[in-house]
Amino acid sequence: MREGDGPRDSHAAGGSLSRPHADLLIHGASQLLTMDGGGAGPLSGRAQGALGVIEGGAVAVAEGRIIAARRESEVRALCACDSRTTMVDAGGGVVAPGFVDPHTHLLFARSREKEFTERLRGVPYMEIAARGGGIHASVRAFREATDAALLANGRRRLAAFLIHGTTTVEAKSGYGLSVEQEVRALKLLRKLRAEQPVDIVPTFLGAHEVPIEFRGRKGAYVRQVIEEQIPAVAAEKLARYCDVFCERGVFDIEESRAICRAAMAAGMRIRLHADEFSPSGAADLAAELGADSADHLLAATEAGLSKMSRMKVIAVLLPGTSYSLGLPRHAPARRMVEMGIPIALGTDCNPGSCMTESMPAVISLAVTQLRMTAEESWVAATRNAACSLGLGKDRGRLAAGYRADIAVFDMPTYEYLPYHFGVNHVSAVIVSGRLVAERPHSTNGKAPKRAADGRSSRRGSGPARRAAASSR
Ligand code: NIG
Ligand code: FE
Repeated sequence: MREGDGPRDSHAAGGSLSRPHADLLIHGASQLLTMDGGGAGPLSGRAQGALGVIEGGAVAVAEGRIIAARRESEVRALCACDSRTTMVDAGGGVVAPGFVDPHTHLLFARSREKEFTERLRGVPYMEIAARGGGIHASVRAFREATDAALLANGRRRLAAFLIHGTTTVEAKSGYGLSVEQEVRALKLLRKLRAEQPVDIVPTFLGAHEVPIEFRGRKGAYVRQVIEEQIPAVAAEKLARYCDVFCERGVFDIEESRAICRAAMAAGMRIRLHADEFSPSGAADLAAELGADSADHLLAATEAGLSKMSRMKVIAVLLPGTSYSLGLPRHAPARRMVEMGIPIALGTDCNPGSCMTESMPAVISLAVTQLRMTAEESWVAATRNAACSLGLGKDRGRLAAGYRADIAVFDMPTYEYLPYHFGVNHVSAVIVSGRLVAERPHSTNGKAPKRAADGRSSRRGSGPARRAAASSR
């Protein structure tokens, strides 16, 4: 970007008096992915892949909100830039809404890589759990960890989400499994939300597992969740959602229904770990309860999926989990698209079954393993994920009025993301209109001419950002 671009442009268009002032302008994009077609709500069926691509676009932002996302010439004519405008040069890259990750267990004390190795030797996930490993191991570690240690881990994790382009995460409790420890988890999430840029949507998951001290007394634990944990969480408005691990050997349909009904009565909305390993009717329950999402769904039945389709329950698919567990199958995404179920994608970031913060990795797996198209996957990771958190009118699109949560990628096209996997293409991240992360452009874009893979040439070697210099 040339010094003084902003002011020169505003003179060219006849002064800036009548035009809104841009606090930040992202220019030089090869493609803007607006996700802005097809009315309100999540996209499904054929529309699941409606990216709303604008070639050669720009985005202008004021007071934390997008004021224009259109072709660059139109944006520059509509908005006034001056010395106070932060200019972000996308350098011929792709500009998209920041990823919304609708399913994470990001607050934990310790990693569990030894279990990963055991699983690769053939020991199933549920067997490790039955022996007191799995979630139980994370519960022991969580209870022993200091607040400071948990916060430090949470900060590290959130920084990793951000640098991979994620600007909103859902985050579950569920490694505390007592009134005191579940409340502690949600309070720590609230603290993390206040102190760093990634927005956090908190979910209460007291019914993640039956804690060891309640072994053989599951009914008593379910009563504690309903009669003590939910009221304690609701009293301080600590969670927007309640989730249950509704799975054979964990919480059955009746227990899950009772917990969810109590949470709904206390003002929480519902999302469910549903039919991850075996069909237990959890997809049906999600539809019955009008849940905002049913997640995993590898083993969901056709009947359960039909009910989800009728109720427009969003399927949150987590292909990183089947990948990391080494499962031979994945969720039936193609069938879901056929049935008109809106699909969102998430990481499931957790120390047991899926240790990643990377939505780009998840998109790559969605394309190669779930056979979703690149277009469907991008929509699933942004707009539909935002809808699954009740935020579809606020984020997940590049559209006027939407929160300016934006990721800039150093790559020529949106299809490039799943194709060039295992490395980070994010060059800049903007949250609420503030540039909060920048990375040097990767080797993808270093060469001045990229005729071989169709890239346009670029001017700088970084996501050139500066306040436009005053005109002189
Ligand atoms: O979504 N399935 C249950 N919960 C997580 C795993 C949590 C853990 O293993 O720590 C999941 O896969
Ligand atoms: Fe999970």
